Amino acid sequence: MSQRFSTDILIIGGGAAGLSAALHLAPHARVTVLSKGDIESGSSHWAQGGVAAVTDPDDSFDSHVEDTLTAGAGLCDQRAVEFTVAGAPAAIRALRSWGVNFDGEENEFHLTREGGHSFRRVLHVADATGRAITQSLTQKVLDHPSIDLINDRVAIDLINLSRLGRHPSRCAGAYVLNRTSGHVEVFQARFVILATGGASKVYLYTSNPDSSTGDGIAMAWRAGCRIANMEFNQFHPTCLFHPHAKSFLISEAVRGEGGVLKLPDGSRFMDSFDPRAELAPRDIVARAIDHEMKRLGSDCVYLDISHRGRAFINEHFPTIAERCAEFGIDIAREPIPVVPAAHYTCGGVMVDLEGRTDIPGLFAIGEVSCTGLHGANRLASNSLLECLVYADSAARRIVSELGRQPSLVQVPHWDESQVTDSDEEVIISHNWDELRRFMWDYVGIVRTTKRLQRAQRRVDLLKQEIHEYYSHYRVTADLIELRNLTNVADLIIRSALKRHESRGLHFNLDFPDQDPNAADTILFPGALENIDLQPRSMP
Ligand code: FAD
Ligand code: SIN
Repeated sequence: MSQRFSTDILIIGGGAAGLSAALHLAPHARVTVLSKGDIESGSSHWAQGGVAAVTDPDDSFDSHVEDTLTAGAGLCDQRAVEFTVAGAPAAIRALRSWGVNFDGEENEFHLTREGGHSFRRVLHVADATGRAITQSLTQKVLDHPSIDLINDRVAIDLINLSRLGRHPSRCAGAYVLNRTSGHVEVFQARFVILATGGASKVYLYTSNPDSSTGDGIAMAWRAGCRIANMEFNQFHPTCLFHPHAKSFLISEAVRGEGGVLKLPDGSRFMDSFDPRAELAPRDIVARAIDHEMKRLGSDCVYLDISHRGRAFINEHFPTIAERCAEFGIDIAREPIPVVPAAHYTCGGVMVDLEGRTDIPGLFAIGEVSCTGLHGANRLASNSLLECLVYADSAARRIVSELGRQPSLVQVPHWDESQVTDSDEEVIISHNWDELRRFMWDYVGIVRTTKRLQRAQRRVDLLKQEIHEYYSHYRVTADLIELRNLTNVADLIIRSALKRHESRGLHFNLDFPDQDPNAADTILFPGALENIDLQPRSMP
C-alpha cells in the first residue's frame, strides 16, 4: 500500500519558480516542494547571463516590451509581455530581500547586455547568477518552518478528480515516486503548482541539466490541459564543444561584452547574416552557425573574447574561464570552440496572468508554462524574470482562494499489485538515446516536412513500447522520464507539422516564408489529431 501525505500547497519543482512561489506562500499555508534532485538539478542553478529588468533611468518599460515583442516574431501575447516587464522591479526587490547580491550597488547595478536587447538591462552576479539565486532561495526555504523541501521525489502523474468519476474537474495532488524506497506515494493537496522546468533533454545536445525532461508538460497534457507552441524550442548558439564537456554554456553575455564568432580560419561571419551581427536574436545566430558548420563540414565554430584581456575576463566571466581551463582552453589567449545546443522550451502548459491552467486547482509557473511572454522566440534573460513574476502572481491568486477551498479529497492509492520489476532497463536506455538522436537529426534547428514525418513514425513506435512497459513493470525514474520525453517529442513534432510557415525558432525549408497571420499552435487534450492554430484565450 502506498504512503499518503497531505499538504495545503504541493509545488512540483525546486528551481527559481518553485522556490520563490514557496517563499511567497509560506506565511499563509503549509507548503511542500518536491524535486527530482538537489539544488543543481534544475536549470535555474546553471543560469549565467542574469535577469532582465529595467532599472536604469535611461531605459524604459516600453523599450523592454518592444525588444521582447521583436524577438517573439509576432507571437507574443502583449498583455503577458507588459505584465512581466512591469513586474521586474518588484521581482528584483524580492530577490534582494532573500539575499541575492547583484553586481554593483542599489540604483547602480552593473548591467550586462545580451542579444536582442537594445539596452544594457541584465542584472547579474558575475557569470553565475543562477547559482547565487538558487543558493539564497534554498537557504530561505530550508529556514522556513512552513515549507518542506523533499529532494528525491519524481512526480509521475497529476490527480484530476474528474478522471475519478463523480467529481468536477480539480487537481487534488499527484502520484510520486520515492527514489530512495522505489515506491509510489500519494501527495494530496488543495492546490498544486507545476514548476518542473523545460524539456530540452528531448534533444541529444543540450545546455540543460538532466532534469529537463518535460515532466510537467507531459503530466499536464495527460491530466487534461491545453499545451501551446511546442515547436518553438530555443537553441542556444554557444555551448562549449569538447568531448568531455557535458552541457556547458558559454553565456551570451560574452558576446554582449564584445566576444566575436569566428570560423576555423579565423574570419568573422555573423555580419553577413544580420546587421546586428553577434547580437542578433538567438534563432538567427544559431541558424547562421548551423549553416556555416554544414557548409564547411566543421565540428564547431569559435567564440573569441581574448581581446578584452585577462583582468576583464576574470572579473566578468570567472566561471566560464575556470571551466574552459579545466579542458585546457585559456580564454584570455585563445578562442572557445562552440556549437549550438537545445536550451529553452518556449511552449508549454497554457496559463493566464496568474499561472492558472485549464484544471481548477492546478497552476504552472516558470519554463513549464506558456504564458505568451516568449512567442516564437525568447529574449535572453527574460525567463528567470518570468519565473519570479508568475510565482508571485500565482501565489497571490492561491492565497485569495485559500479560505474558499474545500478540504482535501481522498484519492485512490497507486496500484502496484499487477506489476513486476523491469528486466528491460537496457532497452529503456537505448530508447532514450534513439529518441534524443532522431529529435536532433529530424526536428532540430532546420526542419523539413519529410524529416518531421520520419520523426513522427519513430515516436509512434516508441509510444507503443512505452505503453507496454507501463502496463507490466514497476515504474523507475528512467521509465517515467522516457514516457514524458516521448509525450513531449510527440507534441513538438505534431505542432511543427501543423505550422506551414517559418517563424522565430521554427524554420522549415518547405515553408521558408512567414505567414502574415500570426497564430499560436494549441493542442487540445483528448483530441491530439485536432490541433488548431488560433489566437490564445483562457477560460
Ligand atoms: P528549473 O530551474 O529547471 O527547475 C525544475 C525543477 O523541477 C528541478 O528542481 C527539478 O528537479 C524539478 N522537477 C522536474 N521534473 C520533476 C518531477 N517529475 N518531479 C519532481 N520534481 C521535478 N534564463 C535567464 O533568464 N537568464 C539566464 O542567464 C539564463 N541562463 C541559462 C543558462 C543555462 C545553462 C540554462 C540551462 C538555462 C538558462 N536560462 C537563463 C533559462 C532559465 O535558467 C530557466 O528557464 C529557468 O531557470 C527555469 O526555472 P524553473 O524554476 O522553471 O525550472
Ligand atoms: C546566457 O547566459 O547566455 C543564457 C541567458 C538566457 O538563456 O537567458
